[in-house]
Amino acid sequence: MADTYSAREDRCVTGIEGLDNILNGGIPRGNTILVTGSCGTGKTTLSIEFLVHGALQGERSLYISVTEASDKLLKNMIPYEFFDPKLIEERKLIFIDLPVIYEKLGLQKLDFTLEEIQILVDQIVKVVVELNVKRLVIDSITSICYRLTTEEKIREFILRLGTELSDAGCTTLLVSELLPSAKGYSQYGVEEAIADGIIVLGNLERRGDLLRTLQVVKMRGTTHSRAKYVLDLTPIGVLLVPLLKGGSVEMR
Ligand SMILES: Nc1ncnc2c1ncn2[C@@H]1O[C@H](COP(=O)(O)OP(=O)(O)OP(=O)(O)O)[C@@H](O)[C@H]1O
Ligand SMILES: [Mg+2]
Repeated sequence: MADTYSAREDRCVTGIEGLDNILNGGIPRGNTILVTGSCGTGKTTLSIEFLVHGALQGERSLYISVTEASDKLLKNMIPYEFFDPKLIEERKLIFIDLPVIYEKLGLQKLDFTLEEIQILVDQIVKVVVELNVKRLVIDSITSICYRLTTEEKIREFILRLGTELSDAGCTTLLVSELLPSAKGYSQYGVEEAIADGIIVLGNLERRGDLLRTLQVVKMRGTTHSRAKYVLDLTPIGVLLVPLLKGGSVEMR
Protein backbone atom coordinates (compact mmCIF):
# COMPACT_ATOMS: atom_id res chain seq x y z
CA MET A 1 0.00 0.00 0.00
CA ALA A 2 0.99 3.63 -0.45
CA ASP A 3 1.28 3.90 3.35
CA THR A 4 4.53 1.95 3.08
CA TYR A 5 6.06 5.16 1.81
CA SER A 6 4.57 7.58 4.31
CA ALA A 7 7.77 7.67 6.38
CA ARG A 8 9.70 9.35 3.57
CA GLU A 9 9.72 13.07 4.33
CA ASP A 10 11.42 13.96 1.07
CA ARG A 11 8.64 12.42 -1.00
CA CYS A 12 5.13 13.57 -1.73
CA VAL A 13 3.26 10.26 -1.72
CA THR A 14 0.64 10.55 -4.45
CA GLY A 15 -1.58 7.91 -2.83
CA ILE A 16 -2.06 6.35 -6.27
CA GLU A 17 -0.35 3.09 -5.45
CA GLY A 18 0.83 2.22 -8.95
CA LEU A 19 2.29 5.69 -9.47
CA ASP A 20 4.12 5.66 -6.13
CA ASN A 21 5.63 2.31 -7.12
CA ILE A 22 6.75 3.69 -10.49
CA LEU A 23 8.34 6.68 -8.70
CA ASN A 24 9.98 4.59 -5.96
CA GLY A 25 8.01 6.28 -3.21
CA GLY A 26 6.34 9.34 -4.70
CA ILE A 27 7.14 12.71 -6.25
CA PRO A 28 10.22 14.42 -4.79
CA ARG A 29 8.79 17.21 -2.63
CA GLY A 30 8.74 20.66 -4.18
CA ASN A 31 8.86 19.35 -7.74
CA THR A 32 6.72 20.90 -10.48
CA ILE A 33 5.32 18.16 -12.69
CA LEU A 34 3.65 18.33 -16.07
CA VAL A 35 0.68 15.95 -16.33
CA THR A 36 0.16 15.93 -20.05
CA GLY A 37 -2.19 14.22 -22.46
CA SER A 38 -5.02 14.62 -24.92
CA CYS A 39 -8.67 14.99 -23.99
CA GLY A 40 -10.35 12.42 -21.77
CA THR A 41 -7.11 10.64 -20.82
CA GLY A 42 -7.72 11.12 -17.08
CA LYS A 43 -5.56 14.17 -16.27
CA THR A 44 -8.14 15.87 -14.07
CA THR A 45 -9.17 12.69 -12.24
CA LEU A 46 -5.55 11.72 -11.48
CA SER A 47 -4.75 15.25 -10.31
CA ILE A 48 -7.76 15.48 -7.99
CA GLU A 49 -7.04 12.03 -6.56
CA PHE A 50 -3.50 13.24 -5.79
CA LEU A 51 -4.98 16.23 -3.93
CA VAL A 52 -7.55 14.14 -2.04
CA HIS A 53 -4.87 11.76 -0.73
CA GLY A 54 -2.82 14.73 0.41
CA ALA A 55 -5.80 16.28 2.18
CA LEU A 56 -6.52 12.95 3.90
CA GLN A 57 -2.92 12.95 5.18
CA GLY A 58 -3.41 16.45 6.61
CA GLU A 59 -1.63 18.30 3.78
CA ARG A 60 -3.72 21.20 2.61
CA SER A 61 -4.43 20.80 -1.10
CA LEU A 62 -5.48 23.39 -3.67
CA TYR A 63 -6.96 22.98 -7.13
CA ILE A 64 -6.85 26.02 -9.38
CA SER A 65 -9.34 25.58 -12.18
CA VAL A 66 -8.69 27.56 -15.33
CA THR A 67 -11.11 26.13 -17.87
CA GLU A 68 -13.96 24.37 -16.06
CA ALA A 69 -16.09 25.81 -13.27
CA SER A 70 -15.08 24.00 -10.10
CA ASP A 71 -18.66 23.25 -8.96
CA LYS A 72 -19.18 21.29 -12.18
CA LEU A 73 -15.87 19.50 -11.67
CA LEU A 74 -16.79 18.55 -8.13
CA LYS A 75 -20.01 16.96 -9.35
CA ASN A 76 -17.92 14.70 -11.61
CA MET A 77 -15.87 13.60 -8.60
CA ILE A 78 -18.82 12.47 -6.45
CA PRO A 79 -19.06 8.94 -7.96
CA TYR A 80 -15.43 8.20 -7.02
CA GLU A 81 -15.01 6.42 -3.69
CA PHE A 82 -11.80 8.30 -2.88
CA PHE A 83 -13.66 11.62 -2.87
CA ASP A 84 -14.96 12.86 0.48
CA PRO A 85 -16.98 16.14 0.40
CA LYS A 86 -16.06 16.67 4.07
CA LEU A 87 -12.54 17.61 2.94
CA ILE A 88 -14.07 20.64 1.19
CA GLU A 89 -16.19 21.62 4.21
CA GLU A 90 -13.09 21.40 6.43
CA ARG A 91 -11.08 23.40 3.86
CA LYS A 92 -8.43 20.70 3.64
CA LEU A 93 -9.22 20.59 -0.08
CA ILE A 94 -9.82 23.95 -1.71
CA PHE A 95 -11.01 24.79 -5.22
CA ILE A 96 -10.40 28.20 -6.77
CA ASP A 97 -11.46 29.37 -10.22
CA LEU A 98 -8.63 31.31 -11.85
CA PRO A 99 -10.97 33.65 -13.78
CA VAL A 100 -12.04 34.99 -10.36
CA ILE A 101 -8.37 35.77 -9.58
CA TYR A 102 -7.91 37.37 -13.01
CA GLU A 103 -10.87 39.62 -12.29
CA LYS A 104 -9.63 40.51 -8.82
CA LEU A 105 -6.23 41.44 -10.23
CA GLY A 106 -7.71 43.34 -13.17
CA LEU A 107 -6.07 40.98 -15.68
CA GLN A 108 -8.64 41.20 -18.41
CA LYS A 109 -6.50 41.40 -21.55
CA LEU A 110 -5.84 38.34 -23.69
CA ASP A 111 -2.10 39.00 -23.81
CA PHE A 112 -0.30 39.40 -20.44
CA THR A 113 2.74 41.66 -20.08
CA LEU A 114 5.80 40.51 -18.08
CA GLU A 115 4.60 42.72 -15.25
CA GLU A 116 1.18 41.10 -15.26
CA ILE A 117 2.80 37.66 -15.25
CA GLN A 118 4.71 38.66 -12.12
CA ILE A 119 1.46 39.86 -10.52
CA LEU A 120 -0.20 36.52 -11.31
CA VAL A 121 2.72 34.46 -9.97
CA ASP A 122 2.82 36.59 -6.80
CA GLN A 123 -0.91 36.07 -6.25
CA ILE A 124 -0.78 32.28 -6.69
CA VAL A 125 2.26 32.03 -4.38
CA LYS A 126 0.58 34.32 -1.83
CA VAL A 127 -2.47 32.03 -1.68
CA VAL A 128 -0.23 28.96 -1.36
CA VAL A 129 1.85 30.48 1.46
CA GLU A 130 -1.09 32.01 3.36
CA LEU A 131 -3.12 28.82 3.27
CA ASN A 132 -0.03 26.63 3.85
CA VAL A 133 -0.80 24.62 0.71
CA LYS A 134 1.43 21.56 0.25
CA ARG A 135 -0.15 20.17 -2.93
CA LEU A 136 -1.25 22.28 -5.86
CA VAL A 137 -2.86 21.45 -9.20
CA ILE A 138 -3.28 24.01 -11.97
CA ASP A 139 -5.72 22.70 -14.58
CA SER A 140 -4.69 23.66 -17.14
CA ILE A 141 -1.37 25.42 -17.62
CA THR A 142 -2.06 25.34 -21.38
CA SER A 143 -4.98 27.73 -20.93
CA ILE A 144 -2.73 30.15 -19.01
CA CYS A 145 0.05 29.84 -21.60
CA TYR A 146 -2.47 30.77 -24.26
CA ARG A 147 -2.55 34.25 -22.72
CA LEU A 148 1.23 34.54 -22.45
CA THR A 149 1.69 34.31 -26.24
CA THR A 150 5.52 34.05 -26.45
CA GLU A 151 7.95 31.30 -25.45
CA GLU A 152 9.91 33.81 -23.38
CA LYS A 153 6.84 34.71 -21.30
CA ILE A 154 5.82 31.07 -20.85
CA ARG A 155 9.36 30.25 -19.68
CA GLU A 156 9.35 33.21 -17.29
CA PHE A 157 5.95 32.25 -15.86
CA ILE A 158 6.64 28.55 -15.27
CA LEU A 159 10.20 29.10 -14.00
CA ARG A 160 9.20 31.77 -11.50
CA LEU A 161 6.13 29.90 -10.36
CA GLY A 162 8.00 26.57 -10.03
CA THR A 163 10.87 28.11 -8.06
CA GLU A 164 8.65 30.01 -5.64
CA LEU A 165 6.30 27.07 -5.07
CA SER A 166 9.28 24.80 -4.44
CA ASP A 167 10.64 27.30 -1.89
CA ALA A 168 7.22 27.17 -0.21
CA GLY A 169 7.52 23.36 0.02
CA CYS A 170 4.61 22.88 -2.37
CA THR A 171 4.49 19.99 -4.84
CA THR A 172 2.69 21.01 -8.01
CA LEU A 173 0.97 19.28 -10.91
CA LEU A 174 0.56 21.42 -14.01
CA VAL A 175 -2.05 19.86 -16.27
CA SER A 176 -1.15 20.21 -19.92
CA GLU A 177 -3.53 19.67 -22.81
CA LEU A 178 -2.21 18.02 -25.93
CA LEU A 179 -3.74 17.54 -29.34
CA PRO A 180 -3.77 13.83 -30.27
CA SER A 181 -1.47 14.68 -33.20
CA ALA A 182 1.09 16.50 -30.98
CA LYS A 183 4.73 15.44 -31.36
CA GLY A 184 6.26 16.63 -28.08
CA TYR A 185 4.88 16.57 -24.53
CA SER A 186 3.43 20.07 -24.40
CA GLN A 187 1.54 22.54 -26.53
CA TYR A 188 4.29 25.17 -26.65
CA GLY A 189 7.35 22.92 -26.17
CA VAL A 190 8.66 25.17 -23.36
CA GLU A 191 6.63 23.63 -20.53
CA GLU A 192 8.22 20.18 -20.84
CA ALA A 193 11.79 21.51 -20.74
CA ILE A 194 11.22 23.50 -17.54
CA ALA A 195 9.13 21.02 -15.56
CA ASP A 196 10.92 18.77 -13.05
CA GLY A 197 8.89 15.82 -14.21
CA ILE A 198 6.61 14.69 -17.00
CA ILE A 199 3.77 12.20 -16.64
CA VAL A 200 2.23 11.42 -20.01
CA LEU A 201 -1.32 10.12 -20.27
CA GLY A 202 -2.39 8.70 -23.59
CA ASN A 203 -4.87 6.68 -25.56
CA LEU A 204 -3.94 3.36 -27.11
CA GLU A 205 -6.15 1.44 -29.46
CA ARG A 206 -5.93 -2.27 -28.86
CA ARG A 207 -8.20 -4.97 -30.23
CA GLY A 208 -10.99 -2.51 -30.89
CA ASP A 209 -10.75 -0.99 -27.42
CA LEU A 210 -9.38 2.44 -26.51
CA LEU A 211 -7.10 2.01 -23.49
CA ARG A 212 -5.78 4.84 -21.36
CA THR A 213 -2.03 4.74 -20.69
CA LEU A 214 0.42 6.40 -18.29
CA GLN A 215 4.17 6.79 -18.63
CA VAL A 216 6.64 8.72 -16.49
CA VAL A 217 9.05 10.25 -18.99
CA LYS A 218 11.17 12.24 -16.55
CA MET A 219 11.28 12.92 -12.82
CA ARG A 220 14.16 14.89 -11.37
CA GLY A 221 15.32 13.67 -7.96
CA THR A 222 14.38 10.00 -8.23
CA THR A 223 14.93 6.88 -10.27
CA HIS A 224 11.73 5.63 -11.87
CA SER A 225 10.31 3.19 -14.33
CA ARG A 226 9.84 4.53 -17.87
CA ALA A 227 7.54 1.69 -18.84
CA LYS A 228 4.06 2.31 -20.19
CA TYR A 229 1.16 1.33 -17.94
CA VAL A 230 -2.52 0.87 -18.63
CA LEU A 231 -4.50 3.44 -16.64
CA ASP A 232 -7.93 2.34 -15.53
CA LEU A 233 -10.41 4.83 -14.08
CA THR A 234 -12.28 2.69 -11.56
CA PRO A 235 -14.78 3.62 -8.82
CA ILE A 236 -11.88 3.56 -6.32
CA GLY A 237 -9.76 5.82 -8.52
CA VAL A 238 -6.77 5.41 -10.82
CA LEU A 239 -5.43 1.86 -11.17
CA LEU A 240 -2.24 1.13 -13.08
CA VAL A 241 -1.17 -2.19 -14.56
CA PRO A 242 1.89 -2.80 -16.74
CA LEU A 243 1.31 -2.88 -20.46
CA LEU A 244 3.34 -5.88 -21.50
CA LYS A 245 5.20 -5.93 -24.79
CA GLY A 246 3.27 -8.95 -26.03
CA GLY A 247 0.08 -6.97 -25.83
CA SER A 248 -1.59 -8.69 -22.88
CA VAL A 249 -2.38 -6.83 -19.72
CA GLU A 250 -1.43 -8.50 -16.47
CA MET A 251 -2.16 -7.54 -12.86
CA ARG A 252 0.86 -6.89 -10.67
N1 LIG B 1 -17.12 7.84 -12.30
C1 LIG B 1 -16.31 7.50 -13.30
N2 LIG B 1 -15.70 6.30 -13.29
C2 LIG B 1 -14.89 5.93 -14.30
N3 LIG B 1 -14.59 6.72 -15.34
C3 LIG B 1 -15.17 7.91 -15.40
C4 LIG B 1 -16.04 8.38 -14.38
N4 LIG B 1 -16.44 9.63 -14.69
C5 LIG B 1 -15.83 9.91 -15.86
N5 LIG B 1 -15.10 8.89 -16.28
C6 LIG B 1 -14.26 8.84 -17.50
O1 LIG B 1 -13.24 9.79 -17.32
C7 LIG B 1 -13.12 10.58 -18.50
C8 LIG B 1 -12.71 12.00 -18.14
O2 LIG B 1 -11.53 11.95 -17.38
P1 LIG B 1 -10.83 13.32 -17.01
O3 LIG B 1 -11.79 14.43 -16.96
O4 LIG B 1 -9.99 13.06 -15.82
O5 LIG B 1 -9.89 13.48 -18.30
P2 LIG B 1 -9.08 14.75 -18.76
O6 LIG B 1 -7.82 14.22 -19.38
O7 LIG B 1 -8.96 15.71 -17.66
O8 LIG B 1 -10.04 15.31 -19.90
P3 LIG B 1 -10.07 16.80 -20.55
O9 LIG B 1 -8.95 16.85 -21.51
O10 LIG B 1 -11.40 16.83 -21.22
O11 LIG B 1 -9.96 17.79 -19.45
C9 LIG B 1 -14.49 10.56 -19.11
O12 LIG B 1 -14.39 10.73 -20.50
C10 LIG B 1 -15.02 9.19 -18.75
O13 LIG B 1 -14.62 8.26 -19.75
MG1 LIG C 1 -9.54 17.73 -17.49
